[in-house]
Order: sequence, then structure tokens, then C-alpha cells
Amino acid sequence: MLATDFILKNFNVKTDTNPNYIHNLHRDKLPIVFQELGFKIGVELGTSRGVYAETICQNCAGVKLFTIDPYLPSEHINSSVHDEAKARLAPYNYEMIVKKSNEAVHQFEDESIDFVYIDGNHMYDYTMEDIITWNRKVKLGGIVAGHDYRRYASKISRRWKVIEAINHYTSMHNINPWFIFGKTDTDRRCPSSWMFEKIINDSW
Ligand SMILES: C[S@@+](CC[C@H](N)C(=O)[O-])C[C@H]1O[C@@H](n2cnc3c(N)ncnc32)[C@H](O)[C@@H]1O
Repeated sequence: MLATDFILKNFNVKTDTNPNYIHNLHRDKLPIVFQELGFKIGVELGTSRGVYAETICQNCAGVKLFTIDPYLPSEHINSSVHDEAKARLAPYNYEMIVKKSNEAVHQFEDESIDFVYIDGNHMYDYTMEDIITWNRKVKLGGIVAGHDYRRYASKISRRWKVIEAINHYTSMHNINPWFIFGKTDTDRRCPSSWMFEKIINDSW
């Protein structure tokens, strides 16, 4: 468990609980972990304006990043969001796939990517589907991670179920350890990203 060992050693994580909280790792530093682990091919599900995709490209030298987002028009998404992402990511080695994650997943071979960062549709079924199907695309020893392991107050966000989906998935698959990390702006006690090392292969 190279990735897990690296995380345990470098972030002084206590292993007496599962999930393990990493208080001194912000998600912006996760790409440095990817780089230290020699990761070269990654995917971000849900790219929006490309802000976190840019952070990944800037902090993980030599990475090829696939960004996946359908850019379906909504209250928050319009063509300028898509254009902004393209402009922001232009200097980097990236490929933008304008599809829903459950459509784009068919373009990838099993065990062909080093990491995935899941930040698309946060409803329970979509999140669980993303974890299940994209876990298969990650190589053994790679990292499956995602955003928004937290509660939000707004009406629409109350329907988000990232916490339930990742709790159920890790429990059903006996994933131990897995990690929660990063702080939110609103509540410093509430960490906001999650990750685990891909250690099981259930793609048969
Ligand atoms: C919170 S934003 C992502 C922010 C981005 N990861 C960042 O941190 O800079 C969520 C994005 O998910 C996209 N999205 C929604 N449903 C999706 C799906 N089924 N597959 C992929 N992306 C999806 C939305 O279009 C939106 O741009």
C-alpha cells in the first residue's frame, strides 16, 4: 500500500479511527502527493471553470489531466464557464471531455489512470456510480478521491449525499484506512475532501 504508507508517514495521521482525518493537508496540496507518488495520468469529474484542474496541473509535474464535465446549461453553468475553463487550462497537458461522467467512463480502459478526483453531481446515485465505475479505471495503488465530504445549508445542497455514498462504499468494501482532509471556509472543523488507495479489483 504505497500511497497509503506515503500518506500515513508524511501527514502524521493517527490510525485509531476510520476514516482518518488529515488536518494538515489542504486539497490544493493533494496534487503534490500525486507527484510524489509518480502519478502521470489523472481525471477530474466536474471541472466547471477549471480552478481545481489548474491546481492539479500546476502542482503535479508531467501530469496529463482529463477533465470531464457536460457543461449542461443551468443556474451556474453557461458557455462562458466552459470558455473560462478552456482558457485557464490552455497552458497545460489536458484533454477536455464534454460529457457526463457516466458517458465518458466508457472511453477509459480499466486500470488505466493513476487518480480520479470526483466533483461532479453530488446526489447519492451519481456519486455512488462515479465511485464504483471510476474506481475500476484507477490502477491498483492509485488514488480515488473527491470533494465535498460535508453538509451544506442551502436547499439544493441539502440533497447532496457525498457523505452517505462514500461512507457506504468504504464500509461495504472494507476499505481501511481511508481519509478525509482539507478545511472549508465556513467551518474549520469540517473537512471537505476524501480519498482512498485503490486496493480492490472488482471489474470482472
Ligand atoms: C462544483 S463544480 C466543480 C468544481 C471544480 N471541480 C473545481 O473545484 O474547480 C461541479 C461541476 O460538475 C459538473 N457536473 C454535473 N453533473 C455532472 C456529471 N454527471 N458528470 C460530470 N460533471 C458533472 C457541473 O457541470 C459543474 O461544472
